[in-house]
Amino acid sequence: MALNLDDIRGLFEAHGQLAYSGEPVTQLEHALQSGALAESEGAAEELVAAAFLHDLGHLLNRQGETPTARGIDDLHQYFALPFLRPVLPEAVLEPIRLHVDAKRCLCAIDAAYFGKLSVDSVRSLELQGGIFTDDEAQVFLKKPFAEDALRLRRWDDLAKEANRATPDLDHYLNLVSRVMERHAAM
Ligand SMILES: [Fe+2]
Ligand SMILES: [Fe+2]
Repeated sequence: MALNLDDIRGLFEAHGQLAYSGEPVTQLEHALQSGALAESEGAAEELVAAAFLHDLGHLLNRQGETPTARGIDDLHQYFALPFLRPVLPEAVLEPIRLHVDAKRCLCAIDAAYFGKLSVDSVRSLELQGGIFTDDEAQVFLKKPFAEDALRLRRWDDLAKEANRATPDLDHYLNLVSRVMERHAAM
């Protein structure tokens, strides 16, 4: 039950036009913008791949419009991992897995961060367990790939801009393909 590159392409082609809940971008635009922001900061290809794929769980487990408004936490940060684990390294999987907890952590350690969250992000924050305590934040920060997850999270929050120009789907699928090939060769 691994997803190959064609499966990932198929998911974006079939469902990429879904709205990104409560934001003025589609799922595909959100993925492309996240990847582009990671690249613009010179992130390693593994982290760019994580940024591009971080919400793949939404495409695999579709919950309709704005599930947070119905009190649903879709746990999308975990949903794609079993399908990606056979083909991608921890450097991709862990930032994806941690990108929701990264928000809970940033709210605890960065006083300005909470104020910049979108309405839907604030609503989902409560469903996802709320702001970390200081102790919880310290535990999070010691996890492998925590720093990458925090970077991904900040790109995630910015990747919600209508009509921003980005590289296309093929650009990021090619990048994911390189990451997969390197991982398979290890
Ligand atoms: Fe997400
Ligand atoms: Fe996202």
